[in-house]
Amino acid sequence: MKFIVNHEVAMHDEQQTAETFWESHYDAMSPISNGIPGKMLVRFSEGLTPGHALELGCGRGDDSVWLANQGWRVTAADLSNRAIEYAAANAERSGVRESITFTQCDLTQGFPQGEFNLIVASFLESPLDFDRARIFRTAFNHLLPGGLLLITSHAKVPSWSKHRHPFIPAAEVLAPLMPLPQGWEVQFCGEFSRVMTGPEGQQDEVSDSVVALRRG
Ligand SMILES: C[S@@+](CC[C@H](N)C(=O)[O-])C[C@H]1O[C@@H](n2cnc3c(N)ncnc32)[C@H](O)[C@@H]1O
Repeated sequence: MKFIVNHEVAMHDEQQTAETFWESHYDAMSPISNGIPGKMLVRFSEGLTPGHALELGCGRGDDSVWLANQGWRVTAADLSNRAIEYAAANAERSGVRESITFTQCDLTQGFPQGEFNLIVASFLESPLDFDRARIFRTAFNHLLPGGLLLITSHAKVPSWSKHRHPFIPAAEVLAPLMPLPQGWEVQFCGEFSRVMTGPEGQQDEVSDSVVALRRG
């Protein structure tokens, strides 16, 4: 199934490709992120024995850097060269550059080599249409037995967001991935909501959808 996920980024014009869109997105951003890993990653990776992790759509690398700090060896992929440049500098500042292999990759065209104990896709989204489910099905072939594929998506954005996200229930993320390969199971499929404070101190609920798939 194909779907478009809008998110809190500048509007794209119709002529843009995903690559030019994301390059200009990161060009306009500060290279320095807040350094905070995704809440769902922290929650769902708790208790896992560090091994080799793959992050799909690493952006400025906060999740990959956090994983490396937890003892994981990480491969981090993103479409945007600029994002990777920022992420590599982020890793350098955090002292974990040696633990992370960065790769510029359009995941609709190719996939990083290797086999992984954990594959993470935190908000692998774009205002330009792309076949996310196909990427996740490819990821099935790269997860080792006992491994976890963790997909977190924006489900509801706060009222001050410039763009309206379609609500993507976890069930809709999961549906095109079914049936799962033999021996795989759904560890979790659902939404997590939290209250967020906006730029003017206003508060609103945000919601992430999470699909966690375990290979037996
Ligand atoms: C919303 S950002 C999320 C970044 C980061 N994971 C986070 O949680 O902050 C989406 C990321 O996916 C990347 N991306 C979008 N389409 C992609 C594709 N086809 N192949 C690889 N990366 C892609 C973008 O460059 C961007 O860094």
